[in-house]
Amino acid sequence: MPIPKAELHVHIEGTLEPELAFELARRNGITLKHPGVAELREAYSFDDLQSFLHLYYELMDVLRTEADFRDLAAAYLERAAAQGVRHAEIFFDPQAHTTRGVPFETVLNGLNSALEDSEDRYGVSTALILCFLRDHPVDDALATLEAARPHLEHISGVGLDSAEVGHPPGKFAEVFEAAGRLGLRRVAHAGEEGPAAYVREALEVLGAERIDHGIRSLDDPDLVEHLARTQVPLTVCPFSNVRLRAVDTLADHPLRRLMDAGLLVTVNSDDPSYFGGHVHDNYLGVQEHLGLSDEDLRTLARNSFTASFLSPERRAELI
Ligand code: ADE
Ligand code: ZN
Repeated sequence: MPIPKAELHVHIEGTLEPELAFELARRNGITLKHPGVAELREAYSFDDLQSFLHLYYELMDVLRTEADFRDLAAAYLERAAAQGVRHAEIFFDPQAHTTRGVPFETVLNGLNSALEDSEDRYGVSTALILCFLRDHPVDDALATLEAARPHLEHISGVGLDSAEVGHPPGKFAEVFEAAGRLGLRRVAHAGEEGPAAYVREALEVLGAERIDHGIRSLDDPDLVEHLARTQVPLTVCPFSNVRLRAVDTLADHPLRRLMDAGLLVTVNSDDPSYFGGHVHDNYLGVQEHLGLSDEDLRTLARNSFTASFLSPERRAELI
């Protein structure tokens, strides 16, 4: 049985398996560009983050109704439970849907209808993190936060994702400040393809409590020292980094160096349907290719609960 763990970096839209994409396309009368499941899977070969994002946004077109979002989330939760996940903090990208004419409420209600009985059905507690698309205008992020305001009991925090280079975190200072005033937790993708300076900016300007990816932090020894001292967690996604060519191979992955430097590191799947494995597969991959011990995996699993937004009581139950 896979080791019990929390997953803190998974985009629900990145859990869309080709089979479900075709089923939803059929259900909604949409013709996909790819003739079948096998051809679609073959298209899952990426040069960088942007080439992945292109397909990721394209395939979202099949998500139209509350039932579609419910089925997507239910499929993820079932798989996550089988991977040992006991708690999942799940990203969603509302702007990727509202810009296609799918109302914010359709997305949220659909996801929620799977999440609300997840603990009973799958033994996985959940939290939702609303991500702003950093390659869209700041005003769109502000409008998205406004759309979320009536629903804050269902949303734990905000994040920042999509194309990183050329879109520094500081651009979103006002949105993150407003989110903080609303009592939302704050996280941000930084240092995936972008420089270590973006990690600093996410911490200092956005007040990020966790950094998603953050692998480029190693380029800045002072930043590494700061992350080790403050124990601001990194949600690292090894398979993603290799598939998007931020790292050449798993054997070259900086996870072990980050752990050895004393950082609070976690392992996550990012977009498991696209990157060849779910969260426990990532654990096994780094164990094999970086020579991690079983004790190292236990440390990573313990870190995942420590880095979560769970209450101290629930965390103590799970660790
Ligand atoms: N959206 C989905 N996956 C992402 C990633 N790895 N980086 C940035 N934005 C994303
Ligand atoms: Zn991500």
